[in-house]
Amino acid sequence: MRNFTSVHDVKDPVSLIREGISLKINPWGNVHLGKNKTLGLIFLNPSLRTRLSSQKAGQLLGMNTIVMNMDKEGWALEWTDGAIMNTNKTEHIKDAAMVLSLYCDIIGMRCFPTLTDREADYSEHVMKQLIKYSTVPVVSLESAILHPLQSLADGMSIFEKWNKSKKPKVVLTWAPHVKALPQAVSNSFSEWMQAIDVDFVITHPKGYELAPSFTKEVQIKYEQEEALKGADFVYVKNWSAYEPYGQMPPVEKDWLLSEKKMKVTNGAYIMHCLPVRRNVELPDELLDGKRNLTPLQAENRLYAATVVLKRILENTKS
Ligand code: CP
Repeated sequence: MRNFTSVHDVKDPVSLIREGISLKINPWGNVHLGKNKTLGLIFLNPSLRTRLSSQKAGQLLGMNTIVMNMDKEGWALEWTDGAIMNTNKTEHIKDAAMVLSLYCDIIGMRCFPTLTDREADYSEHVMKQLIKYSTVPVVSLESAILHPLQSLADGMSIFEKWNKSKKPKVVLTWAPHVKALPQAVSNSFSEWMQAIDVDFVITHPKGYELAPSFTKEVQIKYEQEEALKGADFVYVKNWSAYEPYGQMPPVEKDWLLSEKKMKVTNGAYIMHCLPVRRNVELPDELLDGKRNLTPLQAENRLYAATVVLKRILENTKS
């Protein structure tokens, strides 16, 4: 694996999930791999989990890690080739990526979508420009439309909790929110669930259909209660509409999950990528309950980042 930007960069997602889980037995067991190597983490947007788990993952592999909040500390970047840079953009990604590649052996970048320009967001223009001009491997720390490190950690969490022979039923349910959020976590979760052996259902209000390229053959149900029946894992996430892009069409029914609604599930675990707005996206009664899987998901973010960096280091070993 050279770059890690989606499930499609991974030959065998199940093997990556299993290796990620296995790293927990001896977290410092690969500290020799990244000796004298530098991990550069570039954030164009805020983060808690991704930033700290990636930084610590680098440490577990013996790497030096350097972090830059590009949005606040760096020059404003121009991403378009051939641009006449006579506005507020100071540095072109072509030059910035060249410099980053001189200082770093692996570059991670977080770049959220515009939520106004669907074509640009769904072309992954920003992430692709970094990959184009970087001479070292690139890891997505969440792009405009995907969050593969989160989905890898989610897959690990499901595998750790599910040791039965039958496939688990995994439901991704839309949740309310106060502002328009990206579709990245949901797109990515859908891709990864289709790549592993689970019975996967998405439920959301009409008007919140995800991009067809990410849902393909997935069962979509507009009745939340119907979708939740017999679920083993319920992944809760808000996303804004794909059409009209980035908007929040009005929703009539109550989509906030509750203990009562969960009664039709198979005692399902509750999942969320965090950060979560309590009592808007998920109620305290579920977040403070025994079936809350978010601490395990957050823990697995560390081993997801570690296994991805480990594979890249092994692949680029000289
Ligand atoms: N889940 C997640 O990516 O968290 P952060 O935005 O805090 O990194």
